[in-house]
Amino acid sequence: MKIVEPVIVDSFESIIQNIDGYVDAFKRNALIVFRGTSISRSEQLLLTKIFGDRMGWYPNSSEFGEQIWSYEENHSHSMNMHNRHNIKKDEILLSWHLEHMGHHNPAVGATWNMEKFKCETGVGNTLFVNISDVYDMLSEEDADFLKKCKVAAFYGWALDEPGRQQIPALHDAVEMYEPSGRNALRLSALFKYDRETYYLHSFDGRRPSDYEDARFLELSLFFTKQIHNNEDIRQVHEWNEGDVIVVDLFLMAHAVLGGFRPEQRFFHGLWAHRKSGSKYD
Ligand SMILES: [Fe+2]
Repeated sequence: MKIVEPVIVDSFESIIQNIDGYVDAFKRNALIVFRGTSISRSEQLLLTKIFGDRMGWYPNSSEFGEQIWSYEENHSHSMNMHNRHNIKKDEILLSWHLEHMGHHNPAVGATWNMEKFKCETGVGNTLFVNISDVYDMLSEEDADFLKKCKVAAFYGWALDEPGRQQIPALHDAVEMYEPSGRNALRLSALFKYDRETYYLHSFDGRRPSDYEDARFLELSLFFTKQIHNNEDIRQVHEWNEGDVIVVDLFLMAHAVLGGFRPEQRFFHGLWAHRKSGSKYD
């Protein structure tokens, strides 16, 4: 398990002055944490746009008039929805997930600005696994097999979603990710394998055989186990007040540990999407 090492900065301006190096590090690591200065919401938006210019996501500096997708997260929703108010600091509060895989315009990035953090260090840690690290564990045969798989995925967080989704989002199980130059293994967002959330849509451009369906499921379960249990590829962020994270949500599966109450902390988040618009567009 690797603790994410924050970049210590003394002002928002110093982040901007060194932005090229920080974006390069972000492309390699899919994550960067700035610590040492608190930034305003307008500065956070500017940072998100500057990363958008270099990562090709929205918002960015040249896209005018777009809607900005922001939220405040204190995790009360997770606690209330599943009655999970007394989760310990070494237990998962918010389950592992990849963002919006069943949506047609998924979030591919975010900035999270921990505006309030009044709990002890080491509670409410965020865990990350880079799905390219899981891809790299595959044998050549399994990688070749998965490269021929196209996945159909539906909205995952059923209680949050308006109505039933008629048309699943289709995507390749393995996608070469241009910013890092590495293959990403895009299997189930919520690590649930039922026909309602996720299935193998096609193999090599045709209907899959029973054998291919079974092999795909087996590899999907392998993927899930690595995300959930393999500490060798896990990264952990221990929050401080004022920490600003830029995270690549195309690559980073993530989960949140417990040990805090909603009134003790929240972050302000800005979503970044592949196309302009919401996750439904
Ligand atoms: Fe998330």
